This record gives sequence, structure tokens and C-alpha cells, in this order.
Amino acid sequence: MAKTKTAKFKESIGLDIGNHSIKMVHLKKLHHGFKLVNYEIQSTIPEGIEPILSDLSPDRFAPILASILKSLKLNPKKIKHIVSSIGGDNTSIKQIKTIFLPEDELESALFFEAKKHLPISGAEMLLDYQVLSVEEKTNNMNILLASATKKLLQEHTNILTSIGLTPGIVDLESLAVANSFTLNTFIEDGVYVILNIGAFKTNMVIYGAKTKFFARDIAWGGYNFTKDIMKQKKMSYEEAEKYKFEHGLKKEGTETENSSLILDITEKTTAEHITQDVKRSLRFYVKEAGSSDFKKILLVGGGAKLIGFPEFVEDQLKVPTEIYNPFVNLDKVEKFSDEQNPQLALALGLAMRPE
Ligand SMILES: Nc1ncnc2c1ncn2[C@@H]1O[C@H](COP(=O)(O)OP(=O)(O)OP(=O)(O)O)[C@@H](O)[C@H]1O
Ligand SMILES: [Mg+2]
Repeated sequence: MAKTKTAKFKESIGLDIGNHSIKMVHLKKLHHGFKLVNYEIQSTIPEGIEPILSDLSPDRFAPILASILKSLKLNPKKIKHIVSSIGGDNTSIKQIKTIFLPEDELESALFFEAKKHLPISGAEMLLDYQVLSVEEKTNNMNILLASATKKLLQEHTNILTSIGLTPGIVDLESLAVANSFTLNTFIEDGVYVILNIGAFKTNMVIYGAKTKFFARDIAWGGYNFTKDIMKQKKMSYEEAEKYKFEHGLKKEGTETENSSLILDITEKTTAEHITQDVKRSLRFYVKEAGSSDFKKILLVGGGAKLIGFPEFVEDQLKVPTEIYNPFVNLDKVEKFSDEQNPQLALALGLAMRPE
């Protein structure tokens, strides 16, 4: 996650295969930083039909991916540097502390540790780690430990190879979310919370240059906001999705703003579920990491565009909250000069990743 590393590639493609939509960004490496050349977002879900996650087939991704490449005029066989990601329940990332261990002992100790977070047999696990620092006084090592199942990675690379792409680096989603911020922005001291609000989940990342890295997924996203509207307004999925885009958490017409879309009094709304989950994690983080200097909550992902949500989060969590513009310090070709879509943050974090 170091900011100073320079990338060797000249052009790069960041690919975020989300359950709702596939996002691809095409960047050119400049002497300092990057230039946005092109991007594309395409939905993987038929329009107007309520998506049931468990019914959606992984077969739907390859044709959409092929269509994106076509629209960006990219030949899959000629792409040299592509970075994509995997995430969800079959992945885990955690910063841990261990006593100093030589490399040969470290790997097996970390394997044992990783199994606690991803309870699968060793043969099914992939492990990666990065030694972040060795504390001089105690000789303890701070390590970022990432693990995933082999099956998940295989499924992911199959999507790419099926349309002629050669998979490159595959990162974990939460690392890419952090990178979209850290590789692009001057970061002051303190702790930042990044929420990547997708359709069926929200990646939460807590990052500070001098504090512990923390990441977890929250099982709520844009889809759940639509479900709230369907219930509350007795609308079809299609109507509710349209309503969500137009009004977000705000009420129509002259009615005053109501940030949380009240359902039955006993039922929590999605906005409440997400903020309460974040609150719990922040409390846990303060205990674990001993740091409570929360500077900002940054919202990215398609769900970040929900009208009224930044205000709701800020009100509930009492931390300044804003939609993060992942293109803030990037050069852009003319037609994208105003580009700031937060839905592209993860893909951008992937494309900017040093080799
Ligand atoms: N302008 C908008 N206002 C409100 N919601 C929006 C807006 N634009 C997109 N969304 C919502 O964002 C979600 C899609 O976001 P995104 O592309 O980040 O998800 P995904 O990565 O495909 O999903 P996941 O991360 O869960 O796999 C959908 O629920 C969609 O309704
Ligand atoms: Mg996503």
C-alpha cells in the first residue's frame, strides 16, 4: 500500500466485477500519477426484475465483460496489465501482530492464524502477507494477512480466461478500496473510514497512515434500500429502483426531509442497519487499535450516490461524511474532465496498484 512505489507498466486496466455491475477503467501512467483514458459500467442484472442474489448465475459475467471490452475498443489478447479483485465471505484480510519470526517459520504461523479467519482446510486456502513494520522496542512484527479460497480465485480467473483475457494481479476488494484513496490523495494524520456501498454488501475499511488496518463486509447495500422502498411504498422493484434514484432517502414534494425512510416502527431501515453496523465496528476498532481520531467517513460505490445518505451517516455517527471523488487528483481526457463517479473507486484502486 506504499504511496511512493512507481509502477512499471505504461497502461493499466482495473476490473471490478460486482454482483450488480461490472466496472472497468483504463488508465495511462504518467510521469507523476495517472490519466483516465476511458471507462465503462454495465449492469449484469436484467433491468426491471428484482435480483435474487442466490439465483443469479456466475455465467452472466463473461458476456458483459466481453461487451465492455468491445465498447472500450480493447482487444483482450493485447491487454498487458490488468488488475482485478475478489471479495466476500471466502476472503479475509486482517492486520495482526506476532513475535519476530524468521521467514521459514513465519509462513506456517500465518497459515495457522489465517485458518481462524477463514475456516477451511489448508489445501483449499491461498495465503498472502505483507510485513508492514517491525517494532524496535518489542521486536514484534505487524503483518497484513490476506487469505482466500482457491475455488473463489479459480472461478474468478475462469471468467477472465473464458473471453481471452490473461489474468494479472488479483487483489482483495477491501485493499483496492483503501488504495483508491491512499494512492491518490494526500492523507493527513488520523483515521479514515471508507464505505464502498455496492448492491448486496458494503465493504468497510478503516485506514490511517499510523494506525491499524481494519476491513469487514456489511451485509447491506443498494439493493436493500430498494427493498425498503418496495415495502414502504408498496411499489414494484422497477418502480422502487426508479424512486430511489430520484429521491434517495428524501421524501417527495413539500414534505420535509426524512432521512431514514421509516418502515414499520419495529423494523430497522437499511440506512440504520448500515450505520449501526459501522458504529459497532468503530467501537471495536477503538478498543483494538486504541485510536479514535476519526477524521472522515468517505462513501464510494454505486450506493454512495443515494441522495441524503451522507447527511444521514454524519448525523448518526457524528463524523464528517462525504462522497469521495476517486478522480480527484487524476488527469483526464477532455470528455471526462468532470468525472467523479464514486462507483468507479474500486476499479480505480485496482488500476493504480503498483506492481
Ligand atoms: N444514483 C444512484 N442513487 C442511488 N443508488 C444508486 C445510484 N446509482 C447506483 N445506485 C445503486 O448502486 C448499486 C450498484 O452499485 P455497485 O456497482 O457499486 O454495486 P456492485 O459492485 O455491482 O455490487 P456488490 O459490491 O454488492 O457486488 C445498485 O444497488 C444501484 O441501485
Ligand atoms: Mg462492489
